[in-house]
Amino acid sequence: MATLPIIIAPDPRLKVKCAPVDNVDEAIVTLMADMLETMYLAPGIGLAAPQVGVTKRVIIVDAAGKDDDPNPIKMANPELLSVSEELWTYEEGCLSLPEHYAEVERPARIKVGYLDENNTRCELEAEDLLATCIQHEMDHLEGTLFVDHISALKRNMILRKLVKTKKLKAHDAAD
Ligand code: NI
Repeated sequence: MATLPIIIAPDPRLKVKCAPVDNVDEAIVTLMADMLETMYLAPGIGLAAPQVGVTKRVIIVDAAGKDDDPNPIKMANPELLSVSEELWTYEEGCLSLPEHYAEVERPARIKVGYLDENNTRCELEAEDLLATCIQHEMDHLEGTLFVDHISALKRNMILRKLVKTKKLKAHDAAD
């Protein structure tokens, strides 16, 4: 396993619609394992392949609480099979938008179909935090970030701050 560099917004590589995986082969299994290691190190509760520069429909999540056993879920080609009318609001963050958070409203319960790491077709029902986390990661596969769900005013403020932080880091690196 290896940790991978995470792409920070704004970046055109985070705005790409990702291609489906044909088969969960060895390369995808390795990608999933590396993404999981990268996410745990960050730390975060979800990561999508485009965030590590791979434009494939692969996501991983682990929304287990701090005191619970880890619950890693690896998904290729996730698709929403059903969503509840009831909504749930959570203050979301993203490893590609470090230190920025905003409340996003999404369906509270979902049913998702996907291929697991054994290339087996699976279905999962999720609610609240896990449901939000899966939907957030699935958004990444469409090139959508959580800030795309909030007002343009707030989005632009966050993106401007991220640009400023990037410039400062580039400047420090040049010194
Ligand atoms: Ni994210």
